[in-house]
Amino acid sequence: MSSRHFKVAALAGDGIGPEVMREAIKVLRAAETKFGFTLQMTEAPVGWAGIDAAGKALPEATLALCRESDAILFGSVGLPDRDPTLPKEERPERAALLRIRKEFGLFANLRPVTLPKALAAACPLTPSRQGAGINILVVRELTGGMYFGQPKQTGTLPDGQRRAVDTMVYTTTEIERIAHVGFQAARLRHKKLTSIDKANVLENGILWRETVTQIGKQYPEVALEHMFVDNAAMQLILRPTQFDVLLCENMFGDILSDEAAALGGSLGLLPSASLGATHGGNTFGFYEPAGGTAPDLAGRDLANPIAQILSGALMLRHSFGLNEAAEAIENAVTQAINAGCRTGDIFNPDEPTARRVGTRAMGDAIVAAL
Ligand code: IPM
Ligand code: MG
Repeated sequence: MSSRHFKVAALAGDGIGPEVMREAIKVLRAAETKFGFTLQMTEAPVGWAGIDAAGKALPEATLALCRESDAILFGSVGLPDRDPTLPKEERPERAALLRIRKEFGLFANLRPVTLPKALAAACPLTPSRQGAGINILVVRELTGGMYFGQPKQTGTLPDGQRRAVDTMVYTTTEIERIAHVGFQAARLRHKKLTSIDKANVLENGILWRETVTQIGKQYPEVALEHMFVDNAAMQLILRPTQFDVLLCENMFGDILSDEAAALGGSLGLLPSASLGATHGGNTFGFYEPAGGTAPDLAGRDLANPIAQILSGALMLRHSFGLNEAAEAIENAVTQAINAGCRTGDIFNPDEPTARRVGTRAMGDAIVAAL
C-alpha cells in the first residue's frame, strides 16, 4: 500500500443508504483529485441488500472485501417492516452491524456533535442555552457492556412467565483502552473529559469510575469529572456548553449520542467513526452516519447526505491520516450550509436565505464548495 492509495469497502445498505452513499462517494472523488490521493472503492451489499442478493445480511463476499480493505464506509441497515420476518440473530442490525463491530474489534466509537452557527434555529434549545456554541465529542465504548454480555437470552419460567436477561460486563482492560481514547481526544480539544457512569447503583459503574480515575493520572493536562448518566442526560439539555468529551460505556453512549445529535441540529448531520487497535501506524475503521435507514425518506431525494459525507471525512482523517482533505470536506459542508442549502430535516421557512434542496443538490453544493 503506497501512502496515498487506500482500499475502501463501500457498503451502502438499505433505505436511504444508497442515495447518501452516492453523494459521499461523489465528494470523496472530488477530494481525491484536489488532494492527490486515490481510493479504490468497491461497493458490496449488506443488510437487506445482502439478504436479497446473497441470502445473508453480511454475505461472505462482503465480509471478505472488508477484510482486505483499509477501511469500511458504511451506510445503514435494517427495514422495520421486513426485520420482524427474520429470527432476531439474522436481522441486519445484529447479523451485520453488531457482527462487524465485534469481528473487527471496533471498540472506540467517536461521535462529534457541533451545531453549525447558521443552524442555531434547528437546535431545540434557546439561544441562551446554546451559549458560544455546542461542540461535544461522544466517545462510546462499542464492543462491550450490555450489547454483548453473556448470558443474553429469553426463557420461560416454570410458572409460565417469560423472562429476558441481558448482562452488563466490563473488564478493566476494556475500560482502560476506551479511557485512553477519550483522554487522548480531550487533549487535542478543550482538555476536559466527563466520564459517565451509574456508580451509585451498578457494579460496572464503580469499576468504570475507578478505572477511568486511574488512567486519568497519565493525563494530568486533562480535567476529569465524573457524572451519573441520569444527571448527564439532564445537563445536556440545561447546559450543554459545559461538555467537551463525554466518555461512555456502550449503552449509555448509544442513548446520550442521540440526545447530543438533536442539539447539533439534526441526526442527519452526525457522522461517526468506529475504530479498532492501531497496527503499524494504520487504524482500521468503520465510518457510518448515526441516523439509520429512514425508510420513509428513501428513494425520494429527501435525505440529508451530510452525515454520510462527514463520515467519509472522518475516514480520511482517522484511517488514512489525510487531515487536510478531511478538513476541506468539513469546511465545504459548512460553506454549503452557510450558503443556505437545506434538506428537509434542517429547513426552517422563517430563515430568509434558506433554500430547500434535495439529496443530490446538497451533494453538488458540497462538491462545488470543495
Ligand atoms: C447506533 C444504533 C445501533 C446501536 C443500532 C442500530 C443497533 O442505534 O449505532 O447508535 O444501538 O448501537
Ligand atoms: Mg443509537
